[in-house]
This record gives sequence, C-alpha cells and structure tokens, in this order.
Amino acid sequence: MGRLVVVSNRVPVPKRGEAPAAGGLAVALKDAFSGRGGLWFGWSGTASEEPADLVRHARRGGVDYAVIDLSRRAYDGFYAGYANSALWPMFHFRLGLLSYDRDQAECYRIVNRRYADKLMPLLRPDDTIWVHDYQMIPLGAELRARGSKHRIGYFHHIPFPPWAVFSAMPGAEDLIRDLLSYDLVGVQTNRDLTGLIDSMAQGTGMKVRPGGEVRFRDRRTRLRSFPIAIATQEFADLAAESVKTPKVQRFQESLAGRSLVIGAERLDYTKGLPERLRAFGALLEGFPEHRNRVTYLQIAARSREDVESYKDLKREIETLAGRINGDYSEADWTPVRYVGRAQPRDLLAGYYRMAQVGLVTPLRDGMNLVAKEYVAAQDPEDPGVLVLSRFAGAAESMPEALLVNPLDAVGTAEAMNTALVMPLQERRERHAAMFRRLGENSVQDWAKDFLNVLEGKDPAEAPPARA
Ligand code: F6P
Repeated sequence: MGRLVVVSNRVPVPKRGEAPAAGGLAVALKDAFSGRGGLWFGWSGTASEEPADLVRHARRGGVDYAVIDLSRRAYDGFYAGYANSALWPMFHFRLGLLSYDRDQAECYRIVNRRYADKLMPLLRPDDTIWVHDYQMIPLGAELRARGSKHRIGYFHHIPFPPWAVFSAMPGAEDLIRDLLSYDLVGVQTNRDLTGLIDSMAQGTGMKVRPGGEVRFRDRRTRLRSFPIAIATQEFADLAAESVKTPKVQRFQESLAGRSLVIGAERLDYTKGLPERLRAFGALLEGFPEHRNRVTYLQIAARSREDVESYKDLKREIETLAGRINGDYSEADWTPVRYVGRAQPRDLLAGYYRMAQVGLVTPLRDGMNLVAKEYVAAQDPEDPGVLVLSRFAGAAESMPEALLVNPLDAVGTAEAMNTALVMPLQERRERHAAMFRRLGENSVQDWAKDFLNVLEGKDPAEAPPARA
C-alpha cells in the first residue's frame, strides 16, 4: 500500500517531542497514516513579507510534514481575499457578503499552482492523495496538468449549495469543473450531496449517474457524503475529568447556583451569534422567571480578523452583549459573559458538561462538531439539552436535539425555555439516543470510509478507474 498524502490549508505540525493536536483532522488521520506512512502538505500558517517559496520539512511520529509560507500578497489575495471573502460566503449561502475581485481569484489559482509545483516532486507513484476543503479546489486539476496519475480525493468540509446559489460566483463553471479531476468528492451530509449533484449537473452540463458518479474523459468522479464524527468516548472522559479541576470548579462557584447556557465557536457570521444573542434577550424578555437564574457564557474565538465582514460582526456582537447586560444585569448577576478568545480544549469540555443548555445555532454549517462534543461531554445521569439549528449538518443525525430556525429569535427563546425546564427523564432519553448514535461512528471511521471508497476497498463499490 502506498503512502497517504494529505493536503490541507493549515498543517498542524506537532512540536518536537509533543503529541499531535488533540482535535480536528490530526485525530482523524492518525490511524489513517499509521502502518503506511504519510506526508501532510500545506500552508505553515505564516504570512511573510519576503516572497516565500521554500518548503520546510519535519518528521514527527512517522509522518512527514512539508509546509510553505505565504507571501503577504498571497495571504491577502488567496486567504483573506478569494477563499474567505468570496468562496466562504458563497458556500454558506451568503451571497450578500460575497466580495469578488478578479485579482484575488487569480491569486487563488496562482497559490494552488504553486502548491502543485511544490508537491509534485515530493510524490511517489503509488501515493494516494487526499485534498481538504475549499481553499484547495483547483489543486487536483493542477496536479493532473503536471502528469499526476494518483488516486486523488477531495473532501469539502463546509456546506455545498445548489447551482442557483453556486452560479452567483463569477467563474463558477471553472470551479465546479475542477472537481472532475478528483476520483472522489466527499461532502458532509445528504443535503450537501444534493447541492453538489445539482451544481455538478447544471454547472458542467454532464449527467450525474444514479449513485452519484460523473464520467468525463477517462475518469469517473464519485460524489458521496461522509459525515464527520468525533472521538466520543475520549471527549466524554476529558469532560468528566475537567469538571473536577480547580479552574472549572471556580467557574461553577461563580455561577452561584444559576443555570448555565453555553455557546462556543469561531467568531464567524455563519455561526448566527447576533441572532443567538437576540434570542437570549427574547428569553429574558418573554420568560422573566429566568432573570437572575440563568447565565449565558459565549466563547467566540477571534478569526479572520483581516476580513471586513468579520470586523463588523465583532462590533455587532459586542454591542448586543453590552445592551442585554445593560437592560437586565443586577448588581450580583451579569446575564451574558462574553469571552472573545479561544479556550483550551479541556476547559471547554468541562464547561460543556456543566451547562444545562448547549446553544449551537449556526445559520449554515457543514457539520458543527461543537454540537457533537456538547452531547459527548454530558453527565448521562443529569445531562443538559442541546438546542440545535436545523441548518447545521449535525441536525441530520441529531433529531433528539431541540431543533430551531436561528432566524426566529422567539422560537429559539422558546426552545431555550423548554430546555431549561425539561424533566430529567426526557433529558436522559434524548441524550442517550444521541450519545449512542455518536458512538457508532468514530472520527477514524470517517477517514477510513473516505479512503476505502477512494482506494476501491469498499465492498459496496467497484474499484475506481485509474487515470
Ligand atoms: O472547517 C472550515 C475551515 O475553513 C477549515 O478549512 C479551517 O481550517 C477552519 O475552518 C478554520 O478556519 P481558518 O483556517 O480560516 O482559521
């Protein structure tokens, strides 16, 4: 079996002597790399003033890491520009926020070309290549243009809209056609798969065969959904340990017996944070019995601060949180506690376990792992309740959550109230059903399932044609 080569925008190179990162792709890929060796390639996370062309290598735990810096210009055009000011809003159905600039679109292509130039000499003939996310859509085509005959798969971590939305992007036809260079294109949910098939059929004019397959020249590209999962038991154990730590205990004491409602994510307009704050305001307005009895902790890790729409969002959230606190605070109670920085994973796990309500209300989200982690973190004897947006991919497999439309502030407030007063037996039943389902799929299974289909090892699938 050849090596696994992973390409992603950010590459979490472990520090020397340290274990790989505890969350995200690193966990999913640990098993996939083991036994076959691997290479993980992508951006170092650094934007330098110098034109940055050098590939830096590191070897950790049997995996080779190869990273390159972006020049400041490339960072502005590729990352802050086209990827996060045009592609990101389009894929999240936010056409009003889509800011297209032809130079930035060109810069995105140039960076993908450069990645292909740098990656190509590092490849061996029997490698399998797995490309991740929207920052890298053209990479497959660029590798093919340089003669790659490898099996190449692409996984799209964020939502995939139908052509009516996708086609708003200038150059949409080129972008969707780029996906035909892959042997397998994976998305998170059935809803995304419907969007992908629709965009593929309409954008390329090609027939998508039943089962999700497009034939173009001598390649067939399979279209499939692979819902990403978490390491459920590990997270449950982490949470159970974390609540005993002095820091989490101190936080518990600071609540003085009040219920806790929690939200935690990157500060991103797709996460529905202003809508959620308005819903919390509506809870205090419409259900006065919760005043001075409930505290809402919102953790919003700063993100993409060079992008204008993220700056606007930050201001809006600060204003809303301030207004709610001004309207409802008592000398001994602040309704909204707002933490504008990322928090360590173990602390988060403890906070989730303490919270009677988990608020996960994005306007659109590929999957949303906070929803899954919140459920995993609960004490099964006395679990909290998940209030979940129906627009999060996680909603497809978590029907026992209280599903809401986050644009409906009063409806979301009513769901919060239902969660806060829900009887113990009902909480246990809902939690047990979701926890059981989470345990059926590990994050390692997700990676294995994708690679099995890509490499023709899934018994339900015939082997993919080699280019
Ligand atoms: O899940 C979507 C995603 O854009 C990933 O590709 C990315 O690593 C993560 O969100 C965080 O975003 P960023 O890398 O732009 O900080």
